[in-house]
Amino acid sequence: MRAGTIVLSLLLAVGVNVAHGTESAAVDRRVDRLLKQMTLEEKVGQLTQYSAESKATGPVAIESNVRDGIRSGRVGSVFSVVGTNSTRQYQELALQSRLKIPLLFGMDVIHGYKTTFPIPLAEVASWDLEAIQRSARVAATEAAAGGIHWTFAPMVDIARDPRWGRVMEGAGEDTYLASRVAAARVKGFQGRQLGDADAVMACVKHFAGYGAAVGGRDYNSVDMSERMLWETYLPPFKAALDAGASTFMTSFNDLNGVPATGNSHLLRDILKGKWGFTGFVVSDWRSVDEMVDHGYAADNKDAARIALNAGVDMDMQSGVYQGNLVQLVREKKVKLADVDDAVRRILRKKFELGLFEDPYKFSDAERERQALNNPEHRKAARDIAAKSIVLLKNDGAVLPLSKSVRKLALIGPMIKQGVENHGFWSVTVPGVDYAHQAVSTWDGIAAKLGKDTTLLYAKGSDIDGEDRSGFAEAVRVASEADAVVIEVGERWDASGESRSRANPTLPGGQEDLIKAIVATGKPVVVMINAGRPLVFDWVADHAPAILYTWWLGSEAGNAVADVLFGDVNPSAKLPMTFPRSVGQIPIYYNHFNTGRPAPTPTTTEWVSGYIDLVNLPRFPFGFGLSYTTFRYDDLRLDRETLRGNDKLQVRMTLTNTGKAAGEEVVQLYLRDRVASVVRPVKELKGFQKVALAPGETRTVEFTIDKESLSFFNSALRWDAEPGEFDLMVGASSDDIRLRSSFQYVR
Ligand code: GLC
Repeated sequence: MRAGTIVLSLLLAVGVNVAHGTESAAVDRRVDRLLKQMTLEEKVGQLTQYSAESKATGPVAIESNVRDGIRSGRVGSVFSVVGTNSTRQYQELALQSRLKIPLLFGMDVIHGYKTTFPIPLAEVASWDLEAIQRSARVAATEAAAGGIHWTFAPMVDIARDPRWGRVMEGAGEDTYLASRVAAARVKGFQGRQLGDADAVMACVKHFAGYGAAVGGRDYNSVDMSERMLWETYLPPFKAALDAGASTFMTSFNDLNGVPATGNSHLLRDILKGKWGFTGFVVSDWRSVDEMVDHGYAADNKDAARIALNAGVDMDMQSGVYQGNLVQLVREKKVKLADVDDAVRRILRKKFELGLFEDPYKFSDAERERQALNNPEHRKAARDIAAKSIVLLKNDGAVLPLSKSVRKLALIGPMIKQGVENHGFWSVTVPGVDYAHQAVSTWDGIAAKLGKDTTLLYAKGSDIDGEDRSGFAEAVRVASEADAVVIEVGERWDASGESRSRANPTLPGGQEDLIKAIVATGKPVVVMINAGRPLVFDWVADHAPAILYTWWLGSEAGNAVADVLFGDVNPSAKLPMTFPRSVGQIPIYYNHFNTGRPAPTPTTTEWVSGYIDLVNLPRFPFGFGLSYTTFRYDDLRLDRETLRGNDKLQVRMTLTNTGKAAGEEVVQLYLRDRVASVVRPVKELKGFQKVALAPGETRTVEFTIDKESLSFFNSALRWDAEPGEFDLMVGASSDDIRLRSSFQYVR
């Protein structure tokens, strides 16, 4: 390369850095200039957020004069405002304030805005990081066109307990997978850069440990070792931060005796200290004043003091910052410097979003119209929905169904419904009747099949309730058909926030309806819509074919039809372990071996297991079948010993040994045989989703390095320890096809 080119390249490189740095320094200068003009009341206003009066996502007590607060500069952010018209109206109020500081509009855009995508847990079952990122990108594009600057997503809480209804909005039980999904979602939401018209700020939640609520009971206490926190629950938050997340949200729970919203260890030591987070932290809905209920704050004023000092920058919905911070600063119970730091963090984001240049930048009605009815968005939703459907059983190759089936019975309370497909946290956009906007299974199948097929229908039962009066008709209809599809599950709001279930089974009489249909002896496909792993032991034993169809969003019916008739070969794998019994919960694959591991699943004498249940999950983490089969061969490691910071190359060959093209998620697990603390029997450390034509063979490669082997050792230091490691490659956490081992030396 010529010298001149080198110099130019260097200048460009430096230039880019300088540009970025300059931009950041310029923003800081603008923030400081504005800060100097602000009264203490106006500063506190920027730390205050309320929900729009129209939609509560928590216990009510919405301040009646939110609008007055905005007009007087005492409210800096509003959330759950839907549509550009509404956001424009609110923004006009903010521009009547003395300093005309624009409002931030937030919303729970958790899995789509107008185009609803599968619930986050379902998307993770696709193990397709590109599709997951694209889903967030579409959601951001639509939300930004709808006036939103900031989504309260991704939720990255590791969850091992399906009694907790919020498993539906996360990424399941595995830290490695959840960390990669968290990063993909942040990149999807934030796009190229903040300030772009289709970029929204991400909000990583709920910081931290919320998914470990005792008993799976929402909002319940969390108690775990510092090791468990660091090793299992924090990494997805760090991955999201490293991906550039703009904001964090605190969780409701107390963690080891200290509410997360008042937890300076979490917020100042870890997030803003060790991790150097420069965005801002918002509380969860009234989680600041709830510290009084926790018994951690004497009153609202005390709660405001604790939260601000702990590092919460914005108070969502409780109003205690607005009501107490000015006084607390005057009484020197809160430092003005800490208030200024919180204001700076928030104003910096408003500048980066470009709101001071154009406060109405996101409130463009014409752009909204174009973005919200976009066939490409629905195509993306249909694609990932089909990829999220897990084939749990297919005895006798009942699936895929033939498109020339003569009589097909569609039975069950989910077949013709639309709204249930949206699941919890779907966004209601005015003028959209979701009951029809989501494609039902009936409509999806009808659109797929020709006139040679007669579709028969019987609802059979409701989703909830014990009425069995529809069973006889359902049995009659099934008896007339050549094949039966029965679709059951949870109502859209049976999983989600404050939806913990002590008995996460099929609601009402649905399991009995399935029994009646299976008794006809017809080829039956059972499809289960739910926001969480359910317990359905009888169905798992007796139904010939089972698809787990989650809540798949706007294109649900089309995606289900794509899979039922083989236009899409199911490739999804479970992101959470499915228990046989509620009594097994919490049950997860990466457990420790204990000193008395059961040699077989049925051994009970003097080993760790249950005397009244086989010691196995119903369906393990990483499990999912296909309409084709795959063979795993020829595992090769490029060395027997991995040294220091070297890399170990792992190769194997995968062959599609069936007659249908398909995709397989090849999973790589490691086990650290002996260490300074006990280590899990296996841990996911790599996966590749591989598409193969029938008969095709592909070499699949993984790289293992010191980071892959590292954990928080007995001194809680992140490090790898010398010794022997088992290496396993398989189709699920309990279907290991190839094994090897290697040594690690420092
Ligand atoms: C809720 C949820 C949180 C959500 C917030 C705003 O209580 O815990 O996830 O983002 O309030 O709706």
